Amino acid sequence: MSPFASELAFQRLLTAAGQAPSVLNTQPWRLKTVRGEFAELLADPDRWLRVSDPRRRSLHVSCGAALFNLRLAVRTSGHRPLIWLLPNTEEEPRLLAAVRVSPYGPAPSGTRELYECIGLRRTNREPFSERRIPGDVLADLRQAAAREGAGLVMLGRHASADLLEYVAIADEALAGNGDYRAELRAWTTSGNGREGMPSYVRGPGCADDPAPVRDFGTHRGRGPVHFESRPQLAVLTTAGDGPVDWLRAGQALQRVLLTATLHGISASFLNQPLDLRDMRRHSDPRHRRGHLQMIIRLGYGPAVPRAPRRPAAELEAETGVSRRRPAEPRSCR
Ligand SMILES: Cc1cc2nc3c(=O)[nH]c(=O)nc-3n(C[C@H](O)[C@H](O)[C@H](O)COP(=O)(O)O)c2cc1C
Repeated sequence: MSPFASELAFQRLLTAAGQAPSVLNTQPWRLKTVRGEFAELLADPDRWLRVSDPRRRSLHVSCGAALFNLRLAVRTSGHRPLIWLLPNTEEEPRLLAAVRVSPYGPAPSGTRELYECIGLRRTNREPFSERRIPGDVLADLRQAAAREGAGLVMLGRHASADLLEYVAIADEALAGNGDYRAELRAWTTSGNGREGMPSYVRGPGCADDPAPVRDFGTHRGRGPVHFESRPQLAVLTTAGDGPVDWLRAGQALQRVLLTATLHGISASFLNQPLDLRDMRRHSDPRHRRGHLQMIIRLGYGPAVPRAPRRPAAELEAETGVSRRRPAEPRSCR
C-alpha cells in the first residue's frame, strides 16, 4: 500500500522529514497528502527569515534537506519516489515539490543505512579532535554531493584560513545590523522547546580568532575553549543559483551529512558570508566551481544533544485536493 494512503505510514514520513537540519531550526516545511495518491512538500511562510534570507534561499535549502529524508523514508517503505520540483509555481508558490511513489521492492542496504542515520545526525558546535579525515572518506562525501547534482569542494589549509577570516568579517558586519540581531534573537531565545536553538545546542564560546564555529551567544556557564588547530572546511556548490538549485543543494547537503554520520563524522556550519551576500542581494560572480550554498566544517566531535523538533502531527498541512495534478516529471530521482 502507498505510504501516503495510511495514517501510520504517513506519520513515519513526516517524522523522517521533520528531522532535517534547517536554518536556525526554523523547520520551515509542511507536508500534505492529496487523495492518498501523492504528497506535497510546502514552504511555511510563517517560518521564513525575512531579514537574513530575503531570497528564501536558506528556506529552500532547509526544505530540500527535508525532501531528501522523505525520499529515504519512501524508498525504505519498498517504494520508489518520483519527485517534481516546483511543479506549480504560478498557482501555488509555496509548493516546493510533489512526490509520487511506485512499488519497487526492498531498499538497498546503503539506502537503509542512510535512513537509519536520520535520527543520529546532529549539528555539532563543539571542538573537534585533531584527527584528519581520511582521503577515501572525503571522496565519499564529495560523491554524495555529486549524486544529488551539487559539488562539495574540500578546502586546504590556506583556503580554510582565508575563508575563516572572511567569515569573521561577515560576522562583524551582520552584528552591526539591528534587524538581523532581532531576528536571530527571536530564534535563539525561544523557550517553547520545539523549535529554534536552545542554549544546550549552541556549543561553547571560542577562544581562537578567527573562530571556526558560529557564536549564537549564551554558553551555559562555560568559558571559551580552544578548537581544533586545522579545521577541515568544505563548501557545497551548485551550478545555478535559483530555487531549483537551492532545493538540490538541500538534498545534497542532507546526503552529505548522513554519509558523514555513517562515517562517524560531525559537521557544523559557517554561513554568515552567505547571509550577508543574500541580504545585499548579491549573487556570486560566475565561477567554475559554481555558487556557494553552504560553508561546512567537518571533523570528529564528541556526542551532543539533539536539537528540538515540532511533533510530526504539526507538520501536516490541511489535506486537500490540489487544483491541478502535477504534470509529467521534470525532475525524477
Ligand atoms: C540552510 C542552513 C543554514 C544553516 N546555517 C548555520 C550556521 O551558519 N551556523 C550553524 O552553526 N548552524 C547552521 N545551520 C544548522 C542549523 O542551525 C541546525 O540544522 C538546526 O539548529 C537544527 O539542529 P540539528 O542540525 O542538530 O538537527 C544551518 C542549517 C541550514 C539547513
